[in-house]
Amino acid sequence: MDFELKTLTRARICAEKTDALLVLVPQEPGTGNDPLSALTALAVKSGDFEAKPGKLLAAYRAPGIAATRLVLAGVGDASPKNIRAAVAAGLGAVKNGNTQGVVLCLDLLDTLQADAVRAAVTACSEASYVYTTTKSKASPSKLQRVTLVVGDAENAKAAKAGLDKGVALVKGLEFAKEWANRPANHATPTLLAGAAKELGKLRNIKVEVLGPKEVAKLGMGSFMAVAQGTAEPLRFIVLRYDGAPKTVAPVVLVGKGITFDTGGISIKPAAEMDEMKFDMCGAASVLGTFRALAELQPALNVVGLIPACENMPGGRAIKPGDVVTSMSGQTIEILNTDAEGRLVLCDALTYAERFKPRAVVDIATLTGACVIALGGVRSGMFSTDDALADALARAGESSMDLCWRMPLDDDYAEGLKTNFADVANVAGRAGGAITAAKFLQRFAASFPWAHLDIAGTAWKGGAAKGATGRPVPLLLDYLLGQVPSAKSKASTKPKASPKAKAAARTRA
Ligand code: BES
Ligand code: MN
Ligand code: ZN
Repeated sequence: MDFELKTLTRARICAEKTDALLVLVPQEPGTGNDPLSALTALAVKSGDFEAKPGKLLAAYRAPGIAATRLVLAGVGDASPKNIRAAVAAGLGAVKNGNTQGVVLCLDLLDTLQADAVRAAVTACSEASYVYTTTKSKASPSKLQRVTLVVGDAENAKAAKAGLDKGVALVKGLEFAKEWANRPANHATPTLLAGAAKELGKLRNIKVEVLGPKEVAKLGMGSFMAVAQGTAEPLRFIVLRYDGAPKTVAPVVLVGKGITFDTGGISIKPAAEMDEMKFDMCGAASVLGTFRALAELQPALNVVGLIPACENMPGGRAIKPGDVVTSMSGQTIEILNTDAEGRLVLCDALTYAERFKPRAVVDIATLTGACVIALGGVRSGMFSTDDALADALARAGESSMDLCWRMPLDDDYAEGLKTNFADVANVAGRAGGAITAAKFLQRFAASFPWAHLDIAGTAWKGGAAKGATGRPVPLLLDYLLGQVPSAKSKASTKPKASPKAKAAARTRA
C-alpha cells in the first residue's frame, strides 16, 4: 500500500475529489465555516455523533463535500490506541469492495504526535492485509493508496516522522506475516533461508546460511537432535544489519524457527495441530524487523540468528530419555520431544557469544503455558538485566505491542534437575513458561539477555486465523531506542515549554 502526506485547508479537503473520505474527530474538534466543519458541529449538536472512540457517522454525497462517501470517526483524546481503533472501524465503514484510495483526515488533531500517525498507518495496513500466496485466484486488497491529510506545516513535520516510521514498520509487519502465514510445505527451513537471502539484497544487510554440515562442525548437538526426525534439512540463518561502525557492539535477535511442530515422538493431539505452522513466528519477527531496519537505516548494528527446522516423529527421531550435548558443552536429557524450541534456541544463544553483543533478545512461540498465563494481549518477557527489561517494556508501550515481565527466581529451575544429564528439557506442568525460560538462561550467562514468549500473541486462531506480525513493532521501537543520538537527544534536551515556543516565535 502507498501512503502520501498532504497539507490542506478544510476548504480544500471539502473540494477533494475522492470516493472515500475518513475524518478523525477528537473530543474538541474546533469550529470552521466550511461544509465539513458545519456538518460535524451539527451532528454533534443534534446528538447524532459523538467524538468518542468507536463512534462512527456515515454520509453519502453530503452537500458542499466533493467526496462520494464520508465517514466521521471519533477518536476521543486522540491517543494512538484510539486512533488505531478509529481507523480500523472507519476504514471498514468508508471503503467498499472497489475502493482503491482513501483520504484520511488528521487535520482536526491539533498537536499531532508522530506515534499517532504511525498508529494510523499500521491500522490501514492491518485493515487491508490479505494473505494470497497459496490461493489459486488471488484477489488482493483493492485499497492501494491512503492520503494522510494534515492542516498545517508544524503538524506536517511530526506526521512525516510518524509516516516514515509507520511505512517501515508496515513493510516489516507484512513481511513477517507473509512468512508466518505460509503453510509448512511452503515455508521449509530452506525456503525461510531463501527469504532471508532476499533481505540480504537490501542496503547494509548481509546474510549467511549454514546447513547440516556446518552446524555439525559447530557442535550444535541440541539443534541437530530436533532436526534428526525429518527429511527436511535444517538451516541456521545469520543476518547482519551494519548501520554503525564495526567497533559498535551489536544487539543480537534470536528467532525460534520451527517450521512445523508435531511434537515429535511426544506427539501433539490432532486438534488445531495445523496452527503449529506458526511455530516459526519468532523467526518471522526477526526477518520482519530486518526488513524495517533496511528501510529506516538507523545507526546500529544488529545480528539476527534463526535456527530453522521441523520437529517430526520418525525412525531417526529423538526419543524421550535421549541425552544430547549442546554447543555449550552442557548435556541435556530430552524428557519431552515437544519441548523442542528451547533445544534449538540454546545452541543459537551459545553461537551469539561470538558477537560480544551488548544485548541478546530471543523471540519464541515457546510454551502453551504462556498462553494460559497472559492470553493474547501481552507477550511474556523474561530478563536477567533490569535496564534491558525496562527498555523492552517501554518499547512495548510506545508501539502498542505489549509485554509483561515474568520472574526468573532460581527456585523455578529445581524441576529441571536430572540424574542423567546436566539439565532436563522439561520440568513439571506448573509455571511452564518460567521453567522454559530458566532452561534458556543457562545458555545466556555471558551477556545481558531477554526472552520473549510470543506463544499467545504471534497469531490468532478461529475465523480470523492468521499471523499478527508481533512483536515486530516492539523490537523495532526497542532497537530505534538504542541509536545513540536519539537516546542522548531525548535525555539531555528538555522539551520546549509553550512559553519558550511563543518567545521563539516572537524572535523569529
Ligand atoms: N510450540 C509449542 C508451544 C505452543 C503450544 C505455542 C501451543 C502455542 C500454542 C512448544 O514447542 C511446545 O510444544 N511446548 C510444550 C512444552 C511442554 C512439553 C513442556 C507446551 O507448551 O506444551
Ligand atoms: Mn513443541
Ligand atoms: Zn514448538
